[in-house]
Amino acid sequence: MHENESAPRERVLIAGGSSGMGLALAGALLEDGAEVTIVGRSEARLAEARRRLPDTGRLRACAADITCEDEVAGLFGQSGPLDHIAVTAADIEGAYQLLPALELTAVRRAIDSKLVGPLLLAKHGAAVLAPRGSITFTSGIAAYRPTARGAAVAAVNGALAALVRALAVELGPVRVNAVSPGWVDTPIWTYVAGEAKDAMLGAMAERLPVGRVGRAEEIADAIRFLMGNGFVTGTVLHVEGGHRLV
Ligand SMILES: NC(=O)c1ccc[n+]([C@@H]2O[C@H](COP(=O)([O-])OP(=O)(O)OC[C@H]3O[C@@H](n4cnc5c(N)ncnc54)[C@H](OP(=O)(O)O)[C@@H]3O)[C@@H](O)[C@H]2O)c1
Repeated sequence: MHENESAPRERVLIAGGSSGMGLALAGALLEDGAEVTIVGRSEARLAEARRRLPDTGRLRACAADITCEDEVAGLFGQSGPLDHIAVTAADIEGAYQLLPALELTAVRRAIDSKLVGPLLLAKHGAAVLAPRGSITFTSGIAAYRPTARGAAVAAVNGALAALVRALAVELGPVRVNAVSPGWVDTPIWTYVAGEAKDAMLGAMAERLPVGRVGRAEEIADAIRFLMGNGFVTGTVLHVEGGHRLV
């Protein structure tokens, strides 16, 4: 996707676009010339994202909770036709915890934000997507290289892989994929590690074959590939610096 005066502008909705990977994706797509709608729950976070993104006149911000079906339906009522939907939203506060301390409320928030929300976005968004459009979800390394404390997130990420395969069949020719990031330095680490964030990311950087953790822009780049390649569907694209190998 490159800015081209004669080509129609791509219209993309990013649930989770106010932070981390979604924010990086919004920035890259705006540079490509796309019309971008970012979605998150917090108006303040959306306003801060607006300040950080280029002022192109092609950016909209909508406050909505993707775990609420009425709010998801409302989003597409306002959005008009779209080419792509990307979902990077996740609420995993408290979800990285050993048993038996793991709280059911945190498990349900993780399931609702990472699995049910994406399903609702597909349910209500498919009707406004272009036939050659796409939906991209975000899974994660927790499912593929599990660790203690990560059972709930591993289960959700693994279920997402099954969801993309099923939706790719059901919604075709619309393509449905997921990107599966490894460890990437984003604000989500506040919930995962708190003050241990820098030490944990540093130790992981030393373990990984690439010698560093990921950047949000690298995940955004992979999502743009999944949006743009018309022959990829039902796939999980791993972008993790070799994490599954170590
Ligand atoms: N960073 C990593 O190392 C890593 C590794 C593996 C997988 N992942 C996965 O990658 C994805 C993106 O993570 P990130 O690091 O970019 O996270 P992030 O910086 O915390 O951003 C999460 C975004 O989701 C939004 N959000 C959360 N719950 C929502 C809801 N119910 N409805 C609407 N928006 C909601 C947040 O805004 P509000 O809070 O304002 O709603 C925020 O914009 C997630 O699925 C995460 O699990 C991340």
